[in-house]
Amino acid sequence: MELVILSIILLIFLSLTLVFLFTTFLKALLPLIFWGAIYVPSNRDRIKKIIELAEIKPGEKAVDLGSGDGRIVIALAEAGAEAYGYEINPILVRKSRRNIRKARLENKAFIILGSFWQADLSKFDIITIYGMQHIMRRLEKKSRKELKKDARIVSNAFEFPTWPPKKKDNGVYLYENNF
Ligand SMILES: C[S@@+](CC[C@H](N)C(=O)[O-])C[C@H]1O[C@@H](n2cnc3c(N)ncnc32)[C@H](O)[C@@H]1O
Repeated sequence: MELVILSIILLIFLSLTLVFLFTTFLKALLPLIFWGAIYVPSNRDRIKKIIELAEIKPGEKAVDLGSGDGRIVIALAEAGAEAYGYEINPILVRKSRRNIRKARLENKAFIILGSFWQADLSKFDIITIYGMQHIMRRLEKKSRKELKKDARIVSNAFEFPTWPPKKKDNGVYLYENNF
């Protein structure tokens, strides 16, 4: 009897360890492997500021690079854009698609499971990012190559190393492709 109880405890312990290792892998290691940032959601004030600076016009296409639980993609769609999100964490992809269904935005908001480094930025008018400094360095180069004229990038918290922002407000940076 004692052996059975001990085996059950051991099994529970092993399962919890596996769940912990798996979620740590998804949250911390997967973004590192894909050259990205770990999951930290934008807060309400920042989302409001991002949408304000983006100045979305009806019919514009927007993308959130590393879309987490979809909150920015939803806010972009609510502001009138056709909104896309790239996300590598499958659990967050599921959650964000559920959030999009709850918000009844299935026809305006879409999540792609995959790395945003594969995204063709020339398709979008607005790009939003909540990355880290090493991402901003690489994204600046990619944007200079791919962005269409007058496209805007709105970055939460992090600046491009050499591209001066058109506006900065409360930790959010707006860049415009004028060249
Ligand atoms: C700081 S969070 C921002 C989440 C969301 N944009 C927001 O502002 O609430 C960064 C997100 O990017 C995802 N990510 C990291 N590297 C990525 C990559 N290469 N491609 C797609 N998503 C990535 C992470 O899984 C995480 O959900």
